[in-house]
Amino acid sequence: MKEEIEKLLAEVADLKCKTRKEVEEARVRFLGKKGEITKLFDDFRAMDKESKKTFGRVLNELKNAAMNKIEELKDTVADDTVSDGPKADLSMPGDPFELGSRHPVSIVRQEIVDIFRKFGYDVAEGPEIEDDYHVFEALNFPQNHPARDMQDTFFISAGHPNPLLLRTHTSSVQVRAMETMKLPIRVICPGRVFRNEAISARAHCIFHQVEGLYIDEGVTFADLKQAILLFAREMFGPETEIRMRPSYFPFTEPSAEVDVSCNICHGKGCNICKGTGWLEILGCGMVDPNVLEASGIDSKKYTGFAFGMGLERIAMLKWRVNDLRHYFENDMRFLKEFNTAVEV
Ligand code: DAH
Repeated sequence: MKEEIEKLLAEVADLKCKTRKEVEEARVRFLGKKGEITKLFDDFRAMDKESKKTFGRVLNELKNAAMNKIEELKDTVADDTVSDGPKADLSMPGDPFELGSRHPVSIVRQEIVDIFRKFGYDVAEGPEIEDDYHVFEALNFPQNHPARDMQDTFFISAGHPNPLLLRTHTSSVQVRAMETMKLPIRVICPGRVFRNEAISARAHCIFHQVEGLYIDEGVTFADLKQAILLFAREMFGPETEIRMRPSYFPFTEPSAEVDVSCNICHGKGCNICKGTGWLEILGCGMVDPNVLEASGIDSKKYTGFAFGMGLERIAMLKWRVNDLRHYFENDMRFLKEFNTAVEV
């Protein structure tokens, strides 16, 4: 028995395997039901008490050594147990990696922000849930103005002297900028706005605007005209012309609406510009002194201009999309059209 144990101990210590299969064969040989070590245990059971004392411990040591060795080998040899299945074909093309793309409204917003950044404007943002004061009162809206009607504005807390509402334009951010920023102020304010409108090809209850505001000593209408002209040429091409039509907004005086020359027919008249050669892009004007004073700015010393434009409208002109609803439906066929517009 003694020699047998020593022989097996040496064999276990020397055991070398290359594959899982060989490890398993070794396990069966030593520890399987009819294995050599198992057999020694059978002999051991038949021994007298004295011999059991002599061999019990060494026999257990042999068994443990064999078990440890088998476990150790299992971890080190190559796993060939699943090698019967088909091998991976490394020459096969990979799964296509779907690239996302920017939403067209985001692309236009970024373009506008980049253009005005070049002109030295900062970007300012304000809350979408606003109060009546910042959306209407401070912007010189008279009490009975139709925009203050439930029909046009989503009110959150009606009946309050300064009710909460969803802002109907980003001009509210002008007021917040005037309240908080140091003069001179030069900001643009992109953001979402909300109006209680029936959804159609030309109107939606949620859309996006960019507001611009410049206040300093001696700012004139000529500065406004120049800023808009430079913007229009950056946005729609260097040949673009602008024209200003007199208009009315409660927060600017004088006010104007701005058209750009149609970049499709170059003024000849087409169905996009409805034969006029011009496309309307924004509203603007000189900030009304009442608006400056409401935010604590001395209107004798400072003047300024403001402008506001709808991002969907600019995007519609840029890509000639004639139905506003496309921008909100998340139809992949539409969104994928802008894949090529992604700049990385
Ligand atoms: N807030 C106006 C609107 O939603 C757009 C606008 C017009 C903004 C004239 C201005 C402005 O700052 O001067 O229709």
